[in-house]
Amino acid sequence: MKKLFVFFLGLSLVACQEQPSPELQASINRGQEVYQNFCIQCHLAEGQGVPNAFPPLAPSDFLETQTAAVIAGLKYGMQGEIVVNGQTYNGNMPAQGLEDDEIADVVNYIRNSWGNQNRQMILASDVAQTSKPKP
Ligand code: HEC
Repeated sequence: MKKLFVFFLGLSLVACQEQPSPELQASINRGQEVYQNFCIQCHLAEGQGVPNAFPPLAPSDFLETQTAAVIAGLKYGMQGEIVVNGQTYNGNMPAQGLEDDEIADVVNYIRNSWGNQNRQMILASDVAQTSKPKP
């Protein structure tokens, strides 16, 4: 009986992981549009980036682990050395002039595209609370 319970618990967790909530799915859909207008020219259609110039988004250990830095980078711009998948980049990503909700949407999109899967939804209020990184 207990085993069966654990099995169904596991099954429902897996199902949870696979299906984004309707709110997250709507945000991902809006984020796709933002991506195509503001990001694709550097990070390319599959988020693959350009070696030694524009870091990849899929896969990207930086994107997976440095959520606050990603949000701050999109809000204020990002420059200086960063390491993505063991590769050092020292480029300059200008702020794209996006609203907080557009940044939340595009982060939800890139975290759930091209094999990336992160169902933890970023909200506009998370973006609003992100302050400028110290130089
Ligand atoms: C003009 C080219 C350009 C545009 C447009 C651009 N980026 Fe970037 N992006 C960069 C560069 C260059 C870096 C690395 C900056 C550094 O070296 O400090 C970067 C870094 C990143 C990172 C962190 C590193 C990684 O690969 O995980 C993320 C996430 C990211 N960009 C997402 C986006 C999103 C989303 C958009 C659209 C809203 C966007 N970028 C638009 C050039 C660009």
